[in-house]
Amino acid sequence: MTDVTIVGCGNLGSALIEGLSQSGGHDITAYDVDEETLERVATHATRTTTDVETAAASDVVVVAVKPDVVGPVVSEFGPHLAPEQTVVTVAAGVSRAHVAARTDATVVRVMPNLAASTRDMAAAVAWDDPDEDVREMLTDLGEYVEIEEDLMDAATALNGSGPAFVFYVVQAMKRGAVAEGVDPEAAQVLAAQTVVGAGETVLGSDRSVDDLIDAVCSPNGTTIEGMEVLWDSTVADDLGRALAAATERSRELAAEHTDE
Ligand SMILES: NC(=O)c1ccc[n+]([C@@H]2O[C@H](COP(=O)([O-])OP(=O)(O)OC[C@H]3O[C@@H](n4cnc5c(N)ncnc54)[C@H](OP(=O)(O)O)[C@@H]3O)[C@@H](O)[C@H]2O)c1
Repeated sequence: MTDVTIVGCGNLGSALIEGLSQSGGHDITAYDVDEETLERVATHATRTTTDVETAAASDVVVVAVKPDVVGPVVSEFGPHLAPEQTVVTVAAGVSRAHVAARTDATVVRVMPNLAASTRDMAAAVAWDDPDEDVREMLTDLGEYVEIEEDLMDAATALNGSGPAFVFYVVQAMKRGAVAEGVDPEAAQVLAAQTVVGAGETVLGSDRSVDDLIDAVCSPNGTTIEGMEVLWDSTVADDLGRALAAATERSRELAAEHTDE
């Protein structure tokens, strides 16, 4: 069983705690400066604490605070961390170098997302060497891929901001169905579950996405009629531009945290 501490139990920290508690394979310490925040996650954590020394005692310490407080928080934890421990930084735009300058622990950078709470997280990880404890944690929370750190801005856009882009697609599909008379709540369930199922299909198949589209487009059928509209539209380019804009914003934010 890996000991994991989550530092900062806000949106992301609480999602990580929820998911890790469902997986059952972790001793979870929740640390925050706010007692009320800790009360909200207490049922999912093994223990809650406002004591740095207690929080720093885990194999893996995930720093899930806002980017501008990562440096001060790691500096505070630094004296209590040994080289065999791992600090995971999940903050957008904060480099491993920024964190490594403040601790002797091994530093791993992860771009996660809020689907950690349902163990459906998509995460990108950058490390010098694979860290087995972090690997186990990411596997328990969903799917992860290894990337070079200089691609973290793109990952921030793709799987960090990506849920919002997919929510937008769900909303657009829902609106289309409602316009045809479907009840809004029913349309939302059908649109959202269709996204879940399509994602599972892509993950579980060794066929290309284009092949998967072809497979559901029977000649003279309904799907091909809809796909012709999408292929003639700018939707793919527009989603690409959304990704590019989010990537660029991540680069700008990263520039604010460059001190090495
Ligand atoms: N939310 C996402 O979808 C997402 C996705 C990927 C990555 N991230 C990254 O995850 C990090 C956290 O984001 P978030 O949305 O979860 O932020 P958040 O909701 O503001 O959570 C941060 C938590 O840390 C607490 N905190 C502040 N200073 C602290 C300290 N010195 N020690 C311990 N805890 C402290 C905050 O308390 P107060 O509220 O009292 O200040 C809050 O409970 C960010 O760096 C972000 O870039 C977030």
